[in-house]
Amino acid sequence: MPSLHRLIIIATATFAATLANAGVLKIDLPKESATTYKPGPNLELVNARCLICHSADYAAMQPPNMPRKTWEAEVTKMKKVYGAPIADDEIATLADYFAKTYGNEATAAAKP
Ligand code: HEC
Repeated sequence: MPSLHRLIIIATATFAATLANAGVLKIDLPKESATTYKPGPNLELVNARCLICHSADYAAMQPPNMPRKTWEAEVTKMKKVYGAPIADDEIATLADYFAKTYGNEATAAAKP
């Protein structure tokens, strides 16, 4: 059974961690923040498949004129090279989203 002293240390550490988290949560991200994906077709699927390992920053950092084929290759790379859990028949849907939001099929209004 842990001593009282040890329990107090654990409680203090937990409290400190809670404070630290609260501080992080208070940060107001700018509206155009790249940590989440832009609205677009099948955003739910994109969020489910593409936020497991990293934020949307990597997508936002890609050149804005990337064609659908290049996005398809990117999605395929995430699956084949990094082991992203993406079904073969989801690759086209995901590539479609990226071509239309971050790629060369995006309308001027959808661009940041
Ligand atoms: C299994 C983990 C994982 C998942 C899921 C994942 N990625 Fe990645 N992604 C990575 C890793 C690892 C890197 C390389 C990071 C580095 O080079 O520092 C990366 C890098 C990237 C890059 C930067 C360019 C590059 O090729 O390195 C883009 C763009 C990207 N991912 C997009 C996506 C998209 C879109 C999805 C969803 C279809 C996705 N990722 C899902 C692991 C993942």
